[in-house]
Amino acid sequence: MSLNTIAINQQMNRFDGHASVWLFGYGSLIFKADFPFIERRPAFIRGWTRRFWQGSHDHRGTETAPGRVVTLAPLEGAVCHGMAYLVTPEEFAHLDHREKNGYLRLATDMHFEDGTTAEGIVYIATHDNAAYLGPASELDIARQIASARGPSGPNSEYLLRLAQALRELGKPDEHVFELERQLIALGSNGMSAPA
Ligand code: BEZ
Repeated sequence: MSLNTIAINQQMNRFDGHASVWLFGYGSLIFKADFPFIERRPAFIRGWTRRFWQGSHDHRGTETAPGRVVTLAPLEGAVCHGMAYLVTPEEFAHLDHREKNGYLRLATDMHFEDGTTAEGIVYIATHDNAAYLGPASELDIARQIASARGPSGPNSEYLLRLAQALRELGKPDEHVFELERQLIALGSNGMSAPA
């Protein structure tokens, strides 16, 4: 199920020649930045909403039992809160590799708490990528997350860490919080099951 997006992303030249570029994180980037950055700030983007609609066959699931991770769905009037990182352009090679299962770089405006804005990059997996799973009931999504695990760990851990990070940011997300409630009701605590 891998459509490898690395080559497509490498053709994105919007920020060529820039010494640094803002990257908007709305998923695992909020709680795990495994790359060097110059600065980070809470930020939001307009017109997109966070959804657990992308399949994860390489990080939080497997080819035969994919997990679910977040992507952004277009929604008029929506605001998606996250964390922006100012990085050197070299960091995108690492991110392109990490997010190669369907995510494409998109140029976007991001808004900071002091009222300023900057143009930067966000990774989005659109409905036409091979790993896209799309909408389902929150109970079904929570069930899938409860049972999936991959090389990066249990899918449940990803959901619980994202929910916790959004709480710490002070930016509630009803979709994420409802999935968290359903997951906990299913008895999943995000820890690895004993071997
Ligand atoms: C993020 O955490 O913002 C992110 C989500 C999907 C792909 C790359 C980054």
